[in-house]
Amino acid sequence: MLKRTHFCGQLRASDAGKTAALCGWVNTYREQGRGLFFVDLRDKEGLAQVVFEGAPEELMERARAVRREDVIGVRGRIRIRTGGANPKLASGEVELVAEELEVFNKAETPPILPDEHDADRINEETRLQYRYIDLRRPRMQAILRTRSQITKYTRDYFASQGFLEIETPLLIKSTPEGARDFVVPSRLHPGSWYALPQSPQLFKQILMVAGCDRYLQICRCLRDEDPRADRQAEFSQIDLEMSFVDRDDVIHMMSGFTRGLWKELFGQDIGEIPRMTWIEAMERYGIDRPDTRFGLHIKDISDLAAKCDFKVFQEALAKRSPAGRNGVVKCIRVPGGAEKLTRKLTDGYTEWVRTFRAGGVPVVKRTAAGLETGIAKFLEPIKDALTERVGLEVGDALLFACDTWEIATKTMGELRLRVASDLGLIPKDGWNFLWVVDFPMFDWDDANRRWVALHHPFTSPNPDQFPILESDPGACLSAGYDLVLNGSEIAGGSIRIHRMDVQQRVFNLIGLSNEEAQAKFGFLLSALRHGAPPHGGVAFGLDRLVMHVVGTDNIRDVIAFPKTQSGADLMIDAPSPISDEQLRELSVRSALPAAVPR
Ligand code: AMO
Repeated sequence: MLKRTHFCGQLRASDAGKTAALCGWVNTYREQGRGLFFVDLRDKEGLAQVVFEGAPEELMERARAVRREDVIGVRGRIRIRTGGANPKLASGEVELVAEELEVFNKAETPPILPDEHDADRINEETRLQYRYIDLRRPRMQAILRTRSQITKYTRDYFASQGFLEIETPLLIKSTPEGARDFVVPSRLHPGSWYALPQSPQLFKQILMVAGCDRYLQICRCLRDEDPRADRQAEFSQIDLEMSFVDRDDVIHMMSGFTRGLWKELFGQDIGEIPRMTWIEAMERYGIDRPDTRFGLHIKDISDLAAKCDFKVFQEALAKRSPAGRNGVVKCIRVPGGAEKLTRKLTDGYTEWVRTFRAGGVPVVKRTAAGLETGIAKFLEPIKDALTERVGLEVGDALLFACDTWEIATKTMGELRLRVASDLGLIPKDGWNFLWVVDFPMFDWDDANRRWVALHHPFTSPNPDQFPILESDPGACLSAGYDLVLNGSEIAGGSIRIHRMDVQQRVFNLIGLSNEEAQAKFGFLLSALRHGAPPHGGVAFGLDRLVMHVVGTDNIRDVIAFPKTQSGADLMIDAPSPISDEQLRELSVRSALPAAVPR
């Protein structure tokens, strides 16, 4: 077998005169007259030009028979290109004059080509079906390499900080909380099921009780939820946990990791990562993961709106949300919006915000003549105060949302992003990191009339919040924190509850009786009774981190074998029906009369 001496993409002018053997895939080929045949050969490092020139006829003939994506090896001498350098290729100054050719594998006519120009034109399903060809593309190879560089950096960094890498089980107990579990039937315990972990949360906490002090795992998490652009049912986390720490210690550790990683990848110091409280994020940005790369801050003008004789405002202000918050009127000033926000755009917004249960988007524009359009006449009594409050200048527009605090906040938050995108206000470069802290402990679930944990029910209240845990759960702040990058949540964690009595109180608050808590989380409660240190941790979404680093908004680009929007793996054709015999063995009765085609 012909053995490689160099990678295609690494040949340089300084190699001229050497003998080399290259192995790879035929990217392209062309014949130039009878005596000259070129092959662009590709491997993971890039392309090299191979030329068959005046070779024995037998070799020329075999060379002429190669086709795209054949896997071949060639040996020959490297020389400076006679036809002039190709500046587009790293190896473009040289070519290999082939003296020997070995065809390892003839390829059928490829259904897709690993060609960057074609990547956007090929539909993604075909790319996923033939993932082994798609992954040959230089961009995909580069992404895989970056991902590997990130995981290597992660392991090195945390090892240097005294973290142990510990694996936790994949077959665990179903405790539906958060997303839906994937479940696996047990053959040895007919009628019983394992669940696949949504995260190693409780295991890492128990490792702290076990005295491991600092735990790290690059782990797979499985959540049976609908995939989205930045969400997969099966994804990876950089998961860690630390003992004898408070919130600042964990944030400090993670900030150090993030800064170091950016230095390693981009040679750039991202500086101190600022913090913002959850309430500020919600009030100014309308979302708990603010994109701080641009302004368009939200302003609450409820006090001014109360002075207008405008039924829509008055009705909104009179509302009270199920969680007990008063109705509000909020607005965003869009600089230059008087012209840029066309009627077509604002009519579109009015339609669109119904998705968030908002009634519409009142608009007002300031022109040289004063306030104009839409609701201008209702704002007459407050026009000076409003202009001053929001800094409204000639040429600007104001967009309003008025409803319960929850609906108006959500509407403004979504609208802020939409307007920024429509008007091209989001800078393409720049890394805006942000820690969001002081989340509420609980969210009110009106449908089920109960409190639910905003992070997860193992998150501790902030140390000063214990007195109001039961008396005012809605106001109680947690020791949770999220790391946000350019408006996307890339990590989340918290200080945990390490005392069994507190854990039980939180379970009770979210409607779990002591008996139910014991049935679901008895192992945790038991661990907390047997010497649990104060502890806390965090998990980075590895896939999302890689998405930012390589600059894609499609999570499937950063996963070697991702699933489609409907959770299917098109290459291996999963999920797929299993045989009646397998079902019988698992004591699972088929709910379907026969296999249903997907
Ligand atoms: P959480 O559920 O917030 O916390 O997840 C942590 C981070 O994982 C990423 N992430 C996802 N990435 C891709 N696809 C998904 N479906 C998906 N879901 C979450 C996000 C998120 O910030 N055990 C806790 C962590 C802790 O408290 O330590 C947990 O899993 O980037």
